[in-house]
Amino acid sequence: MINLGILISGRGSNMAAILAAIKFGRIKNVKPCIIISNEPEAAGLKIASEKYSVPTKVIPADGFKGWDYDQKVVAALQEYGVTPQSGLVCLAGFMRIISPEFVRQYKMRILNIHPALLPSFPGLHAQKQALDHGAKITGCTVHFVDEGVDSGPVILQKAVPVVNGDDEGTLSTRILEQEHQLYPEAVRLFGEGRIKVQGRRVSIT
Ligand code: GRF
Repeated sequence: MINLGILISGRGSNMAAILAAIKFGRIKNVKPCIIISNEPEAAGLKIASEKYSVPTKVIPADGFKGWDYDQKVVAALQEYGVTPQSGLVCLAGFMRIISPEFVRQYKMRILNIHPALLPSFPGLHAQKQALDHGAKITGCTVHFVDEGVDSGPVILQKAVPVVNGDDEGTLSTRILEQEHQLYPEAVRLFGEGRIKVQGRRVSIT
């Protein structure tokens, strides 16, 4: 069994998609142990506790940066059984950059979802970046987190066409629908031990 911790900052719709997939048996071998938010008002906290009965914890930044903040997160993860040896950490709209110390402790055990086809359009406002660039195809990516921003090895991607008349809202909505399929799928594959990494290349066995 893999103990899962999910880090959020807001809406939590990707978190909810993962929790639903676990609850309804589409993901096996993965147990949701703790949802952590840096934002006390994150809507996802209520969804996690009320709809999915998963423990939640708010860890406000309070001016703490980098590892000074992340070590509080790591302590909470460990307290709930999400260990660097056998745990899994999913970033799901967590609006903080993870410190190198955190990444090194949970080596290849931290996943993130990004609303673009990486390495295109990393960072904030990826959907707007794609529109502004005039891209015809964008999408979403689940990747391992490394020490850079949205730069770790790619696990799964799904393409989403940009259509005439799209604005940031319409495009984001269509990408989000695909995110809700892709992220649970990646967690399922991780839980089944089917993700193999060699350098930057990830294969699904
Ligand atoms: C998603 O678009 C995700 O790709 C990005 O942040 C957003 C989080 O949305 N990393 P939600 O909180 O999961 O609804």
